[in-house]
Amino acid sequence: MTDYGMLAKQAGAILAEEAWYVAAMSNLSALLMDSLPDMNWAGFYLLKEGRLTVGPFQGKPACVHIEPGKGVCGTALLQDRTIVVPDVHAFPGHIACDSASASEMVIPIHFGGKAAAVLDLDSPRKNRFTEKDAEGLKRIVLIMEEKITMEELIK
Ligand code: SME
Repeated sequence: MTDYGMLAKQAGAILAEEAWYVAAMSNLSALLMDSLPDMNWAGFYLLKEGRLTVGPFQGKPACVHIEPGKGVCGTALLQDRTIVVPDVHAFPGHIACDSASASEMVIPIHFGGKAAAVLDLDSPRKNRFTEKDAEGLKRIVLIMEEKITMEELIK
């Protein structure tokens, strides 16, 4: 089972070294991909000029733009809530970037008081993401919200 306490410490160390969002999100996506079992994609989409644009990630090349309200990412952003999808084939409007993805979790990230990015995690295994995963990863997102600097994206 994933040790989210340890993962939160590692995320804190990454952010303490460099808070600029490109460096921090790059290493955080690598940390999550490396630490969590059964994953095929881990990374970030950032709100830029009114739509989500792919940011630092690990995995296969992904869809570049996602409109707010579209797919799991756009829905999580617009509704400002964490979405766990046990089976992506049963989620209406799911955007399939990697056909290997079977389940997904998306957590909104707030900057400047609003949801301005999302953390997106994909697994090739159905029902991969549990309540424990959601809790542990929300803790990491909270650390990101406190530390990351990304002023140019809050527009
Ligand atoms: N499946 C996502 C799109 C992003 S990829 O999974 C990396 C969605 O439906 O929003």
